[in-house]
Amino acid sequence: MLSVKLAKNIGFCSGVRRAVNIVEETLIQSNGKVYSLGPVIHNPEVIKQLKEKNLCITNSLDNLEDSSTLILPSHGSPRNILNAAKKKKLKLVDVTCPYVSLVQKICVLLHKQGLEVIIVGDRKHPEVRALLDLAPGAYTIDKPKDIKENIFSYKKIGIISQTTQTKDVFFAVVSKILQKNPNVLEVHIYNTICLDTVHRQDEVKKLADSVDILLVIGSRHSANTKRLLCIGRKINKRTHLVENEKANLNKILKKQMEPTRAISHGVPKGGILKRPQLIHSLKGAGLQAAEYKIGLISGASTPQWLVKQIVRKINLRKEKLK
Ligand code: F3S
Repeated sequence: MLSVKLAKNIGFCSGVRRAVNIVEETLIQSNGKVYSLGPVIHNPEVIKQLKEKNLCITNSLDNLEDSSTLILPSHGSPRNILNAAKKKKLKLVDVTCPYVSLVQKICVLLHKQGLEVIIVGDRKHPEVRALLDLAPGAYTIDKPKDIKENIFSYKKIGIISQTTQTKDVFFAVVSKILQKNPNVLEVHIYNTICLDTVHRQDEVKKLADSVDILLVIGSRHSANTKRLLCIGRKINKRTHLVENEKANLNKILKKQMEPTRAISHGVPKGGILKRPQLIHSLKGAGLQAAEYKIGLISGASTPQWLVKQIVRKINLRKEKLK
């Protein structure tokens, strides 16, 4: 009655896996306290585990004893934080994803070449804030409709993207910039969406189209998870975010499964049928209850064990439905 279709890309991306490994190693090796300014990655379940291993999360560097260890997060750090940390002589452990570092280098290069830098991304996200520090005066654009006529004062522009941006938004923004700013003479375009993001976004499209219910596992604070959710929902309305194993999973499945199938099997109308009534009606009509396909994909900062917990929970439900 229930079958699970797992995406190929589940669990941590390479950048997050590397970051978590370095943090764990640092916690084992360090004699003193190890801090991180805000979450190292955007997943509360993983942060909870790291805290249990003695990682201290702080919101400010002010209270840190000099020469403590500070982990710099996977999405990069703004310059003021780096300067303050150096002033306090903190031991820095940088877990910035190598791909994010590469985008930072491109950003610096464009700025040094005298181009006006445009970042296609969310200006509130730490990754974009760090890029803005590297190219003072850079523009951030999140959606095509934000682009007005002739907004750029330079004749040469360089466009990059947040690593977790969607291809559709990036290309739509680039094309609108070109349309609305004919005065710009030179345009350097770097598609800096990371490969892991591209693969997951391609996969979520296919999955959303081939299952009855799609579950995107990850945190509501994770940029790449939110984008997967958004892409999935455009294709399949029954796409839901599941943050952890204690989440509203049963409620989601219950709500999504019963009424829609009752209608789709031509069971006599009369409102929403409860599951036993549904099965009874189907049998009466000489039909078998159909199989529900549940698709599962995860954000890049969701650990594999969390996905497995969700699969286990769905399997338990499957047993109950037999
Ligand atoms: Fe890095 Fe891409 Fe993951 S930028 S942290 S590999 S989502």
